[in-house]
Amino acid sequence: SNMSTTEDLSFAFYGTLIHSPSVQTLEILEQAIVAVSASTGRIIALQANIPKDQVEQTLKALGVPPDRTTHLLSGQFLIPGFVDTHNHAPQWMQRGLGQGMHILDWLSGVTFPNEARFRDPEYARRVYADMVVGMLRQGVTTASYYGSLHGDATCILADTCLKKGQRAFVGKCNMNRNSPDFYRDASVEESLAETERCIRHIQTIDPSNKLLKYVITPRFAISCEGDLLAGLGSIASRNPDLPIQTHFNEAEQEVKATLSLFPDFTNEVDLYSHYGLLKPRSILAHCTIMTDAETQRLADLDCGIAHCPTSNMTVGGGFMAAPVREFLNCGMKVGLGTDSGGGFSSSILDSMRHALIASFSREAASAGREKGLTLEEVFYLSTMGGARVMGMDDKIGNFKVGKEFDAVVIDMNTARGGVNAPIEEEDELRRVFDKFLMTGDDRNMIEVFVKGQKVHSL
Ligand code: GUN
Ligand code: FE
Repeated sequence: SNMSTTEDLSFAFYGTLIHSPSVQTLEILEQAIVAVSASTGRIIALQANIPKDQVEQTLKALGVPPDRTTHLLSGQFLIPGFVDTHNHAPQWMQRGLGQGMHILDWLSGVTFPNEARFRDPEYARRVYADMVVGMLRQGVTTASYYGSLHGDATCILADTCLKKGQRAFVGKCNMNRNSPDFYRDASVEESLAETERCIRHIQTIDPSNKLLKYVITPRFAISCEGDLLAGLGSIASRNPDLPIQTHFNEAEQEVKATLSLFPDFTNEVDLYSHYGLLKPRSILAHCTIMTDAETQRLADLDCGIAHCPTSNMTVGGGFMAAPVREFLNCGMKVGLGTDSGGGFSSSILDSMRHALIASFSREAASAGREKGLTLEEVFYLSTMGGARVMGMDDKIGNFKVGKEFDAVVIDMNTARGGVNAPIEEEDELRRVFDKFLMTGDDRNMIEVFVKGQKVHSL
């Protein structure tokens, strides 16, 4: 930058903005100005339908220097950054492996040997740098990450997100049983102590939680003795603002094994709530096998759901995605998760497409009772829905004034080698948007912002 006072200045975009004020409504703002304070990263103004000849005076009134305003071209538009509510950072290298496997076989055969490599901090540093850059370039401005079980590697993951400017929840995986000696927490005490150490590390590197939060991460009950779950529940109750994440009712093999390990409980709601792990800040991945009673109890507990259609249909054993329509009908908080690398794709666009496909299939299988999702809805889930699941709906998710500016500049012109459905002169903006959601990819994401900072550009 050519100025030393950048921090005090604001900047703006002028053009088309698309976001979700609510789950049913997609708002397409034309000739819009969004102005952002560079020092706070917050949106300070949002005005639509400003004719071209009034842009300069409007910017002046807002205090934005004209040379700090980007005029979006035809075929370009802004969307809020994507939120990935469920991602395994150490599985970046194993994406695509083990398709069709059942969950416990996939964990022992593919995943644990892979994650064990993160005992080497150098390896962790290299893979996590590659992963965070890869997620940012795909427009994922916020992610909830499971780390490996290693405290050091998990601290490195947090450092990496902060350095690259990604908003993230980061948690060390707690797992002290039912995995091989080479990949298991040594004891309950050690697992909890490493957790506390990672919590302190994140408090040290990002004391006001500008970008980072620790997320309490029992892998799932099969991996955790009761004492470990109890210890994590106790950390949760002592730190009420820390989120919690786990895998929940993912697959038949998993539910069966869970209930045989915990014979005192009849379902996973009873089990996890007994240990103090079901709270409004909980992010439950999958929830594919649900009774109505369990769904209602999760709704009453106000837990958030990370819907991961990609992995649901390819790894785990259910090969059927969760009943998202039912969750939405109950008013639950639902976001999308790539579940990368259980999900073969780390793209939230793919998650949206798979959520759509899976929902159509569920509609047919339920003879029309569970209505398929709409594009408006899957776009909401990937932005505002995820923000709600992560308890950040007052901060991110759309372009409401006062929120922090997490955004992706989309370019549907194919100049950068994209193979999206080409746009045509007569295409309404809605058609351009639909073409992006269904056929676009990272080649259409030319700039990515988190908290007003540019974190990626093509
Ligand atoms: N359950 C426990 N661990 C995992 C994991 O890494 N991925 C998925 N999809 N399910 C799990
Ligand atoms: Fe997962």
